[in-house]
Parts: sequence; structure tokens; C-alpha cells
Amino acid sequence: SSKQQKGEKNKLFIGTFIHSKQLDELEFFHDTAVCVDKSGKIIAVESSCDQKRAEETLYPKLGWSAADVDVTVGRDGEFFFPGFIDTHIHAPQYPNAGLFGKSTLLDWLNTYTFPMEASLSDLARARRIYSRCVRRTLAHGTTTAVYFATIHVAATNLLADLCLGAGQRAFVGRVCMDHSLSGPPDANSYLDESAAASEAATRATIAHVRAIDPSFALVSPILTPRFAPACSREALRRLGALRAETGLPVQTHISENVGEVALVRACFPEAAHYADVYDRAGLLGARTVLAHAVYLSPAELDLVASRGAGVAHCPCSNSALTSGEAPVRVLLDRGISVGLGTDVSGGYSASVLEAARLAALVSRHVAMPRSRPRRGRIQQGEEKGEDGNEDEGEGEGGEEESEEDRERREKAKLSVEEVLYLATRGGAKVVGLADQIGAFRVGMDWDAQLVGLSTVGEEDVEETQGITKEREEEEEDRGNVDIFGWESWEERVAKWVYNGDD
Ligand code: GUN
Ligand code: FE
Repeated sequence: SSKQQKGEKNKLFIGTFIHSKQLDELEFFHDTAVCVDKSGKIIAVESSCDQKRAEETLYPKLGWSAADVDVTVGRDGEFFFPGFIDTHIHAPQYPNAGLFGKSTLLDWLNTYTFPMEASLSDLARARRIYSRCVRRTLAHGTTTAVYFATIHVAATNLLADLCLGAGQRAFVGRVCMDHSLSGPPDANSYLDESAAASEAATRATIAHVRAIDPSFALVSPILTPRFAPACSREALRRLGALRAETGLPVQTHISENVGEVALVRACFPEAAHYADVYDRAGLLGARTVLAHAVYLSPAELDLVASRGAGVAHCPCSNSALTSGEAPVRVLLDRGISVGLGTDVSGGYSASVLEAARLAALVSRHVAMPRSRPRRGRIQQGEEKGEDGNEDEGEGEGGEEESEEDRERREKAKLSVEEVLYLATRGGAKVVGLADQIGAFRVGMDWDAQLVGLSTVGEEDVEETQGITKEREEEEEDRGNVDIFGWESWEERVAKWVYNGDD
């Protein structure tokens, strides 16, 4: 966890460290010592170093005495990895994970989501839901989360308290929504009363977070217009002005679903496109987190890139709600920062590792042929259709795909290295913390998870502390394990991505 409290000791971590060197490359540090000072910053990274050597050579340089250091030594098969960054998650929807049936975005919101969120007007209920959500996301290795809360100030402030108490870095957004999606509002509508009330409530949460974490070191407010169709022009404009006034980050949804895109076109006829709705309000810039971005046009991609806004890629949600496939490679090639979002409960899992795995799988779907190949090609021209003509194939795609198109399509595929980058450094860029979290570098925060791959199959099974025989067998059955001790670290990491859990 990223938690560091006053009076804590210096820390020494020894073992294997793995992080993203760049988008498509992991870096492995074995037998390495990482020194962390009392403020939680990494102050030394030393290779070929065990505890004894660290005490002899590093402590004197750092002015440390052994009594003043907490030491953690990774066991065989364990490695330290930067904490995951969930760039998009709805904490109040946590109890709904897995509930979506065959719905799509707009009916899903009205059927499942708004009733659940509305129920967090009850603060005791909010406490139960938010405590579980923070505990579970931490258990999944999420040391930073970008949260949508609800419209309720008290419950949103409580979420900020719980994150701070648990040591989870968090951006906590009180949701702004003052426009009904389902006809005229009534007394039971889950909505802000007005644009002015929406701004006032947002300011109340900002004031609360400032009171509990004055420099927003661990927990920060984030301006959160739910999405354009749920906001009046005035509400968006007020949040844009608040962004200019405070410099706070922004999060919202964009271009997730075709019905939503059509709705935005109808609601905002003056805007050139969906992204322009936010841009006109002054909401697009560095540290603006745009969730989904499935259907952005080339003009919108240019605008998002030029403003320096980032994207939260949510493959679990985009699949579950049949929203679509975000063109991650296109976004990256345009220089847009991309992180991963679980989007609970559009997404059914609170695990960023699951999001990484699904990002890899969905990218493979993007990379697959969109139409059946022409029969003539497979049969190398030997087989002709009944009427003696070459079979053009059924359905669409009688046209031969050009070599260029095929290459572009296959380039969509994301590797294990790439999805892990998105889960860490990509997300850090999206939230403006690229210099602070996401890697093991001197000057950065110690913000890490210790991943345990079981050591079954090694001679010293007896010595594996804390892991029961049953647990080892369970891990082995899951294929999570290097049974024969012959896997490279690259292979172990791939198995972690595709088989790993909390
Ligand atoms: N668009 C507006 N609100 C939501 C939400 O809660 N979840 C998702 N996935 N999309 C949204
Ligand atoms: Fe969402």
C-alpha cells in the first residue's frame, strides 16, 4: 500500500522487482534492494544486493541504523510490481457487480444503476458498500483508484475518509447530474436539483477533502460531470469554470455506446461532436479522464490529443454492456494517454488484473478478420461456386482486404507487456502522476504490490512460510505455478496476467 504515516520507519525491500520500462517492454531487477525513506519516497535502488550487503554499504550512505529499518524480503517466486491504477470505477455500484443481463448502457443505467446509487442517501448503507469496495480493490492490488461516487455529499465525503484511512490513493468525485435521461424529473428522481446546487455540492466535497488531506497528497477531489446527456449546459459550464479556478482533475464518460452518441447529438446540436460538448465547457485538458472512448471520430481524436486528455479503457464493461471495442492502438498511436478502468459495475470485476487480461483479449477480437475470407482464396482458386463463378463469400466482405488493412488490423493486438503498462504507467500518465507512481525509480513513491507465484515443485516446499499445503495444491491446479522450475520470468508474468487473482 502507498500508506506512509509519520513515525514510520525507513524501509528496505529485497527481491525481484518488475516494472514497465516502456509500452512494450518490462524491466526485471533481481536480487535488488529498494530503500524507502520515512516519507515514502524511493531513495535508492541497488542491484546485486542482499540484506547483509545493504546494511554494510547502503545504510552508512543513507545515514540509516539497522534498528530504524523495516525489512521485507521477497521469497522465491515472488516479485514486487507497481500498484495498479484503476482509472475508472464507480464505488457505489460495487454491490451490482455481475448484474447487467442483456441490457445496454441507457437501459442499464435506469434499471440497475440509478436505483442503487440513489440508495446511498443512507449513510450507513454507503459505509458498508464503500468499506467493502476499498478493501476489495486494495486486495486486487489497486493502490490508486479514480472513483465516481454518487450525487450525495455526505456519502462521497465518507468515501474520501475511507480511502485516506486505508492508505489507498484516490480521486473521489461527487457526481454532477442535473438532467433527466427518462422524461421529466419528479421528487424521486436521482438528480441534482439545479446547476447551481450541483456546483455548491461539488464545492462542499472539495472543502471536505481539503480538510482531511490539505495538499491532496493521497486523496484528491475530482470534478465529475456524469456524462453529457445527464448534464445541462449550465452545469457543464460551471464545472469548467471550477476547473479553471481550482486546477482540479476532471472525469467523465465519452462515446461509450451508439445510442448515447445519438442522444448527445440531439441534446447538443450546437456542438461539432461529443468531445466538443466538453471542450466548449472548458473540461478537456491534462488530467481529464475520459472513460470508454469507443466511437470517437478522427476529429475528436485530434481534439482529445491536442488537449492532452487521457482515456480510461474499460474492456470488461465495454464487453458486458455490448458497448463496443475501444481502438486502443489508434489512441496510443495518436499520442493519447491510456489507462485501464474496471468500470464497476458496467464491468463485473473490480480487478485491474482482470481488466488487463480483457484488454488483451478484446484487442485480439479487434485484430481478427471482420468477414469470412473468400472461398476461392482458401481453396487457392480450385473450387468454384455452383454456377461456375468464384464464390464471393457469404455476407459482407466480398472485397479482398488490402495488405495495408490487414496489417493495421493485426497491429491492434496488445501484448502482456502492453496491458501491464496500461495498468500502471499508462494510468499514472492519465492522472498526471507519471513522475510519482507506476515504477521503481529513485524519487518516486513506494507504491507497490507483492505478487506471490507459488513455489511448488522446488526442493524447499517445507520452507514456504505462510502458504499451506492445500493452498499450494490449489495454486498448482490453477496452472499458476512453475511446476518444473523452467519458466523464464517473462513466462511467469504472462501466466500471472492470464491466471492471477487477488
Ligand atoms: N455513463 C453514464 N453513467 C455511467 C455509468 O455509471 N457507467 C457507465 N459505464 N457509463 C455511464
Ligand atoms: Fe463508468
